[in-house]
Amino acid sequence: MLNLLGALARPVLFAMEPEDAHNLTIRTLKALPALTPKTDDPRLKVEAFGLSFPNPIGVAAGFDKHAEVPDQLLSMGFGYVEIGGVTPKPQAGNPRPRVFRLIRDQAVINRYGLNSVGAAEVARRLAARGTRAGIVGVNIGPNKDATDRVADYVALVQALGEHASYLSVNVSSPNTPGLRDLQQAKVLDEILARVIEAREATRRKPPVLLKIAPDVTLADLDDIVRVARKRRIEGMIVSNTTIARPDTLKESATAKETGGLSGRPLFEASTRLLAQTYLRVEGQFPLIGIGGITRPQDAVTKIEAGATLVGLYTGLIYEGMGLVDGMKRAILSSLRAGGHAGVAGLVGTRASSLAG
Ligand SMILES: Cc1cc2nc3c(=O)[nH]c(=O)nc-3n(C[C@H](O)[C@H](O)[C@H](O)COP(=O)(O)O)c2cc1C
Repeated sequence: MLNLLGALARPVLFAMEPEDAHNLTIRTLKALPALTPKTDDPRLKVEAFGLSFPNPIGVAAGFDKHAEVPDQLLSMGFGYVEIGGVTPKPQAGNPRPRVFRLIRDQAVINRYGLNSVGAAEVARRLAARGTRAGIVGVNIGPNKDATDRVADYVALVQALGEHASYLSVNVSSPNTPGLRDLQQAKVLDEILARVIEAREATRRKPPVLLKIAPDVTLADLDDIVRVARKRRIEGMIVSNTTIARPDTLKESATAKETGGLSGRPLFEASTRLLAQTYLRVEGQFPLIGIGGITRPQDAVTKIEAGATLVGLYTGLIYEGMGLVDGMKRAILSSLRAGGHAGVAGLVGTRASSLAG
């Protein structure tokens, strides 16, 4: 269905302002029934963070910010969906326009600024899913005007922990002033300690993952991984959007917009950081590799760099949902070629070379 939607709708969607196009996509998905997805090849099954994923491909945060269509996305064949970012109180985000296409670069710049309907509403929506199958993670971030950001993360765990397959602690969105400073070791340690403590007080005790920016230095990464390992979180997500503007960008006028850059130009940097993270984590927890996946083979490269699961957003805008089946085929063919029984055999097999 979405293949069809992709092929027919792209010219229509690309004639619209990006935010309107996105809202129309969400409305269209909402009108579709959430069917049971077709069964994946068993070799694609992945165990991570104590969860069992039917396949390793997920929708990255930001696509379904307000938990409107998680089940429709799962029925399109994704192995998991990360909804959000969700903030404690509702907030409007930045004024429009706040999303820009860099078409010739297969990229997007966004400065939404964590627009959110707020944790209580998202909790209601997730609770309404009841006992439906499917992994739905929740990306959490503080309100822009929060006086105590650590307290905001704690409130989010309390409000949403019961309804989340996993929680993704977002300290990496570039559009909330000062948010990325929370990646600094001392404050990060406090956040993770308090988040884990709040998680332990929930009934569900969802796994906690940390989502980082691609712009951290390797010295920052040493600190981040040290803190993550010390606090025994269940995983990390590498990476969010970048504030960098590679000089290879063709859409140089649009590239001047403020915000986070995603899509194709992010692939190399985010994959390198993923491999660097994998080498530092030494198998203590699994990683989700996100950033610039626009071709089926990119998913394989992320796994070889150290990702147990992958995620994408911008690639879906340019390539449509057909990319998901393509990625599954590419992964299966790499498993066959390498003689691996499952995805785990491929994880990190090229980490050293991709870290360079
Ligand atoms: C329009 C848009 C909104 C996003 N919103 C969020 C968000 O709320 N929280 C978050 O952690 N990441 C958010 N992201 C980042 C994505 O989850 C992802 O990490 C990043 O876009 C890189 O992946 P991609 O190149 O496949 O898009 C957003 C990305 C885009 C393009």
